[in-house]
Amino acid sequence: MSNIQEKREALGQGLQQFLTYCDQAEALITSKEVTPSPQMDFSSLIDEILPLPLDKDAPEGATMKQLQRMVPECTRCPLCETRTHTVFGEGALPARLLIIGEGPGSNEDATGRAFVGKAGQYLDTWLAPVGLSRKTNVYLANIVKCRPPENRNPHTDEVFSCLPFVKRQIQLVKPELILLVGGVASKALLNTDEGVGKLRGRFHRYEGVPVLVTYHPAAVLRNEELKRPVWEDIKKVAAFLNLTLQGKSK
Ligand code: URA
Repeated sequence: MSNIQEKREALGQGLQQFLTYCDQAEALITSKEVTPSPQMDFSSLIDEILPLPLDKDAPEGATMKQLQRMVPECTRCPLCETRTHTVFGEGALPARLLIIGEGPGSNEDATGRAFVGKAGQYLDTWLAPVGLSRKTNVYLANIVKCRPPENRNPHTDEVFSCLPFVKRQIQLVKPELILLVGGVASKALLNTDEGVGKLRGRFHRYEGVPVLVTYHPAAVLRNEELKRPVWEDIKKVAAFLNLTLQGKSK
């Protein structure tokens, strides 16, 4: 068998078959009827064991290092013409929480680092009271990796061009929970036109990973009234991750 795709399919079937053998062994050992294991999605495991061959246009199957090398080379959309640096994302790996914003601002474009400007520093203050930080358990990324001129919202085609990078990044970070901050991120990943106000407060899923939505820190800096709902959302994040509130009013 030479084709990598065939090998990947065989590996998936083998892993599923292994579960069936485990069911049979359990039935033998316990002398009880065992509910057959469900059909599982082994795609992340298969990507690790048998990654797809890489080319510049195929983030699918890339390792984190390969993806980090691909993004600065990207010319998929016109944002590459005006960027100073691409902003891949950064934080702890593995991360319990992956926060996804919309795109780099001027500080991020100048440094190549995610969420280092005013909004990013403010975002850090949401996380600290529940024991979360980019140094220990949080990874930060954006929907588009290049700054849109004048900080405008990224256009649909720009979001679409960047999505394969984001999708692969999510698979590689393997967070327990994703927090989407702002309407650009929630529209892009939840495939909806509903605003943050409608989406926040309940769980969604992106490719099987639980997702919560809250306002963008830049929006909260502009509108104090959003502080209270954001704190409710952060408490929901903490509860899901079994984290205890550290000192701040509950
Ligand atoms: N706003 C974002 O959405 N992302 C950043 O990295 C910085 C500001």
